[in-house]
Amino acid sequence: MRRKLPIGVLVSGSGSNLQSIIDSIEQGRLDAEIKVVISNIHDAFALKRAQNHSIPTLVISHENFETREAFDEAIVRALKSNRIELVVMAGFMRIITHVLLDAYPGKIMNIHPALLPSFPGMHAQRQAVDYGAKFSGCTVHFVDSGVDSGPIIIQAVVPVLDDDTEETLSARILKEEHRIYPQAIQYFASGRIRLNNRRVMIAEGQCEMSTALHNPGLSGF
Ligand code: GAR
Repeated sequence: MRRKLPIGVLVSGSGSNLQSIIDSIEQGRLDAEIKVVISNIHDAFALKRAQNHSIPTLVISHENFETREAFDEAIVRALKSNRIELVVMAGFMRIITHVLLDAYPGKIMNIHPALLPSFPGMHAQRQAVDYGAKFSGCTVHFVDSGVDSGPIIIQAVVPVLDDDTEETLSARILKEEHRIYPQAIQYFASGRIRLNNRRVMIAEGQCEMSTALHNPGLSGF
């Protein structure tokens, strides 16, 4: 049997990305085991999703801590006591500090609903629509001390259509989030990720991606 990477998932909301990770594990495509799901929001639906699959959950409310560092210390304690090797932020709406970063250097991933470095921060989908971007997408990246600025592991591109709203674009992006996040974790679990400065290289089996995308489509050019 292949070794399963022990992961901890940090959530704040609906947890659809958590669900895609759970499903990928149950389908045998992702060699990981979710040891704990931690939420800073006590009624996050993500907790219910974890409990439905008998995954241990923990609520650590940021409101109970005076500083971001103290909150992160509590998270680190929970992760360490579960012997977590990769921290997966899945819709976790808190900025983390050096306390968490130093405890898991190069071992924290996040998913962001835009093609970074475009549209970091909050409301990334709305930013893309308002800006008039023709493409947006999603990015899984390692977390560093900046906001959505760490080394990029994988991205998916979707078109922004003329009649898109924040909601329709978010739905199109979310479908791709559910594909690339389990893939990024599997790259890590199978030991295929190499970091060259801030360029993430995937050893073996990377599909060639050479096709250019155009939106609107080209007519004969
Ligand atoms: C996802 O779209 C994720 O990319 C985004 O929150 C949503 C969580 O959905 N994360 C961020 O914006 C982080 N800056 P989920 O709870 O259903 O996985």
